[in-house]
Amino acid sequence: MSAAQNEGAYNIDGRGLSIWDVFSKRAGKVKGNAKPFEACDFYHRYKDDLLLVKALGFQVFRFSISWSRILPEGTGRVNKEGIAFYHALIDECLKLGLIPFVTLYHWDLPYALEKEGGWSSHFLLKWFNRFVTVCAEEFGDKVKNWIILNEPMGFTSLGYMLGKHAPGKTGLNYFLPAVHNAAMAQAEGGRIIRSLVKKSYIGTSFSCSEVVPFSSNQKDIDAANRLDILLNRLFIEPSLGLGYPDDNFLLMEKLHLFNKAWKYTERMKFDFDFIGIQNYFPVTVKYNPVIPIIQASDVKAATRKVPHTDMGWEINADSFYNMIKRFASYENVKEILVTENGAFFKDKLVNGVVKDEQRIDYFKQYLTALLKAKNEGIKVNGYFAWTLTDNFEWTEGFYARFGLVYVDFETQLRTVKQSGHWFREFMHLNK
Ligand code: NOJ
Repeated sequence: MSAAQNEGAYNIDGRGLSIWDVFSKRAGKVKGNAKPFEACDFYHRYKDDLLLVKALGFQVFRFSISWSRILPEGTGRVNKEGIAFYHALIDECLKLGLIPFVTLYHWDLPYALEKEGGWSSHFLLKWFNRFVTVCAEEFGDKVKNWIILNEPMGFTSLGYMLGKHAPGKTGLNYFLPAVHNAAMAQAEGGRIIRSLVKKSYIGTSFSCSEVVPFSSNQKDIDAANRLDILLNRLFIEPSLGLGYPDDNFLLMEKLHLFNKAWKYTERMKFDFDFIGIQNYFPVTVKYNPVIPIIQASDVKAATRKVPHTDMGWEINADSFYNMIKRFASYENVKEILVTENGAFFKDKLVNGVVKDEQRIDYFKQYLTALLKAKNEGIKVNGYFAWTLTDNFEWTEGFYARFGLVYVDFETQLRTVKQSGHWFREFMHLNK
């Protein structure tokens, strides 16, 4: 789970605003004009939620740290109450025998920093270093497992190119520096944790989607290749020391300019202990001259009449298997952890029960694919279901439910869905 999607308590105990608190106030940006201000109230209910994690049989708990709870202005002054909250949360995990897995950045930049340019600013690295250093020094004795960034492609493209997510900026002038800063931040963050945390286990998490050309027409194949670079290669390759993917379309040339001008290939590289991949669906794409730069658009799963979730995302466990295999096959990748996978279906709570058979079926298919990869000797060594409780699903507000636990957002009552019960059985049988 992530802080912005779950914690709520957005203005309590000294927390500063995040870009999502501000962005969600803009009319029409989030479904139903929902705000993350209270979310699942995890800030006050973490003890109960951790008991659920434990009861469902999980051994590890992934959560993110809210940057603006720790540093309300993004840099400078530390908020003691924010620090105290995460100590209490981590201590509770350890008390219950749950291994804490901490994500440093899960999309909730302090708004104070966005006002200064956010991820596109050349000060970003300095700010990020301060945040990571504070977290490492405070929590490093107790937390050994660290994910530096969550889906850099997600927050840079949606937030700084397409304007769909916070902070809502559009255009290459924001996007390209944001990409470069994120590629640098993931490596710098890794180095800071390595130097300050003894026996640390460090990774960073990438979204990935198999990209399938709509036809054997060369234009569709080229379009698929362009999208593949963006969706699957743009961040992992610099982290492995390979620099940005080499290709001859405009976007890459511009990125190379950043890179060559500053000769930062070495600084974008870090020796990660693991690579996190987050996979939900493949995309089928065709050439579309109307779309700027990328000249590609996807052909929706519903149009192609293939199975899909209520998010419209194609359900295809073979493609999940393919992506695990592909990411594991990079020479310098030591091991893969699947740090997110799950599905949104329109759940209904009827007489205290949520019968989410489709989600169970989804998990069965995807876990079978994962076990197949593992049994074939592919170096995949972990899996995190997304996610514990229904929560604030970014632009989908509280509409898109991904949880194993249903949340009534009026009362904050939790109900374990059938998929949660199924997971418990599954883990019990596969101990
Ligand atoms: C990716 C993001 O990391 C997470 O925050 C989001 O809720 C899920 N995917 C589902 O969209």
